[in-house]
Amino acid sequence: MTTDQPSLFDEAPTPKANDLVEARAKVNELHKLLNQANHAYYVLDDPSLPDAEYDRLFRELSSIESTHPELLTANSPTQRVGAEPLAKFEQVTHEVAMLSLDNAFDDSDMVDFDRRVADRLGVQEDIAYACEPKLDGIAVSLLYENGLLVRAATRGDGSTGENITQNIRTVASIPLKLLGKDHPPILEVRGEVYMPKNSFEALNEKARLKDEKTFVNPRNAAAGSLRQLDSKITASRRLEFCCYSLGRIEGAQLPVEHSEILAQFAQWGFKTNAESKVVLGAQGCQDYYQQLALKRNDLPYEIDGIVFKVNAIEQQQKLGFISRAPRWAIARKFPAQEEMTLLEEVEFQVGRTGAITPVARLKPVFVGGVTVSNATLHNMDEIKRLDARVGDTVIIRRAGDVIPKVVKVVLDRRPVNAQDIEFPKSCPVCDSAVERVEGEAVARCSGGLFCGAQRKEAIKHFASRKAMDIDGLGDKIVEQLVDENLIESFVDLYSLQLDDVAKLERMAEKSAKNLLASIEESKSTTFAKFLYSLGIREVGVATALNLQNHFLDIRVLVKASFEELVAVDDVGPIVAQHILNFFAEPHNQSVIDGLLQSGLTWPKVERKQDNELPLVGKTYVVTGTLNLMGRDQAKGYLQDLGAKVAGSVSAKTHALVAGEKAGSKLQKAQDLGLEILDEEAFINLIKTHGINHES
Ligand code: IVH
Repeated sequence: MTTDQPSLFDEAPTPKANDLVEARAKVNELHKLLNQANHAYYVLDDPSLPDAEYDRLFRELSSIESTHPELLTANSPTQRVGAEPLAKFEQVTHEVAMLSLDNAFDDSDMVDFDRRVADRLGVQEDIAYACEPKLDGIAVSLLYENGLLVRAATRGDGSTGENITQNIRTVASIPLKLLGKDHPPILEVRGEVYMPKNSFEALNEKARLKDEKTFVNPRNAAAGSLRQLDSKITASRRLEFCCYSLGRIEGAQLPVEHSEILAQFAQWGFKTNAESKVVLGAQGCQDYYQQLALKRNDLPYEIDGIVFKVNAIEQQQKLGFISRAPRWAIARKFPAQEEMTLLEEVEFQVGRTGAITPVARLKPVFVGGVTVSNATLHNMDEIKRLDARVGDTVIIRRAGDVIPKVVKVVLDRRPVNAQDIEFPKSCPVCDSAVERVEGEAVARCSGGLFCGAQRKEAIKHFASRKAMDIDGLGDKIVEQLVDENLIESFVDLYSLQLDDVAKLERMAEKSAKNLLASIEESKSTTFAKFLYSLGIREVGVATALNLQNHFLDIRVLVKASFEELVAVDDVGPIVAQHILNFFAEPHNQSVIDGLLQSGLTWPKVERKQDNELPLVGKTYVVTGTLNLMGRDQAKGYLQDLGAKVAGSVSAKTHALVAGEKAGSKLQKAQDLGLEILDEEAFINLIKTHGINHES
């Protein structure tokens, strides 16, 4: 052993006093920089630092904190990751009670409210109301002492709640230290912790993949995430906070209007709702309600109504409270998005590819603004996960314009004679055997085009807008044509006679003529549309375009080998095998021959030169709702420019085109730090490459 080696028993060198002073100054500076960056990112949605720089500062702070543990504080930006699990939540008494709100369900309730307010105040002129979306989450109260977050509590029963400080520290949009200056010695800020729609979807998707219980709605997910004794779990959920009122203040004064108070809170680093607005009188409230009702589905978070508050604090004080609610505020509710109803029966529908989907037949119920009598149950795994039986009372959810879903079974209400749901052993339409591939959730009818249901769906697909786009050939007409044995496959469309069509129910001669004219017109198409309309499994619009651009000629494509097929962008072994199987099937071969013989044509496809393909080698993903074009159209433009369009985001993705209501793909792209284009940026991109999109 050499003597210059440090001994295990040597004492660690103690930092010198001025080291510590320097470190403290550095820690303060890093807190400030990281808090500002955090605020820009999570509150303003306007990142101020590149991720790499943020990470560097964060690591620097962590490293100082590990060499100088005395400089580590609970409100350090490094402490948002969660702390040691608690045994239980302590109780917190609210100094100022957390109230609830009275509800208004229609315009006349609002007019009554406004009249009561004006009468009590004895004023003639219109009252100024602050209007805010009613966020559907969990109310919390945050206590700051001299600008530092010291305690966070749930509402509980309004007078006593639970101490959830550890969990709240993990919510990125909550300041651990107030920004700006002039922080009151005591400040209690109230607001809602909620889970944005895309985080909720992503969380449920993860749970589904692991066969775990899903949350019914974003509110339950937010509540479940906040109620964790282990704050590391809370930290792993994407929660947000938006403030909506003052709890109490000591040692400082706030502005005299509610809207101004919220503006001050925003200065101190809180998120406030961007939709908030001050209006005049009941009419102003009604107009605001109408406007927001239209926007409701497009907001990135769920709201269950609008809160209207008298804006002048002096007027609020005059009005006071009645039992547990203020006289100066009211919540105007939107139609509920969840309701209970009876699961009367389960039917099994057969789709175009033979996939058999269980559909719940429900006792009709008004939910999300419409009457719902059917809801999807997805597949057998979902039925098992829900433990649904015929006769059960179930919770239906219809949020926005999405398909209604059964989200939960109310087990307490299960009748003794509730019946297990059995998956059919043979196809409910054609009686062919049902196949289920190992590891796949979907079961399929093996009947192919022998199955009437698959035939009908294949023809509907063939006629659809993105395929042959046959105007006037709606679902009902296809069903009649098949049921009346007038057509067996889509080739037969091209030999339909006027007499045949005119015989159909509710088909006047004029519309019969129009239909035949549209069928005739559909004969001039494109190679890609033709390919898509054949309904080859997993060949969507984008893949069809790739196949078109790669093979140029159908005669080459039908003879392509497996190796040649997998060489096409976006065609993996599974899709390649579907394509091979399709073209090998004699029935399909005669359908294709038949179509070409009926006169289907398309312009010759020319191979583009590489210099016409500026995006070659780049992979894009398109997600969310685009307002000025369809997603497929956007994909088509990208492909025209040589880009590869993929279905999921990965490290290989070059950029994400994200429309409104983008969900987990946007989240993933953000996590990976990918370039994200909104619709406007996308239109600019294609414009710079010579494509002018006219909506
Ligand atoms: S003000 C005294 N504003 O709605 C005023 N509440 O039914 C109390 N909520 O428990 C609340 N968004 O959780 C207010 N912009 C908003 C709100 C809001 C959601 C919730 C809050 C409260 C419940 C009242």
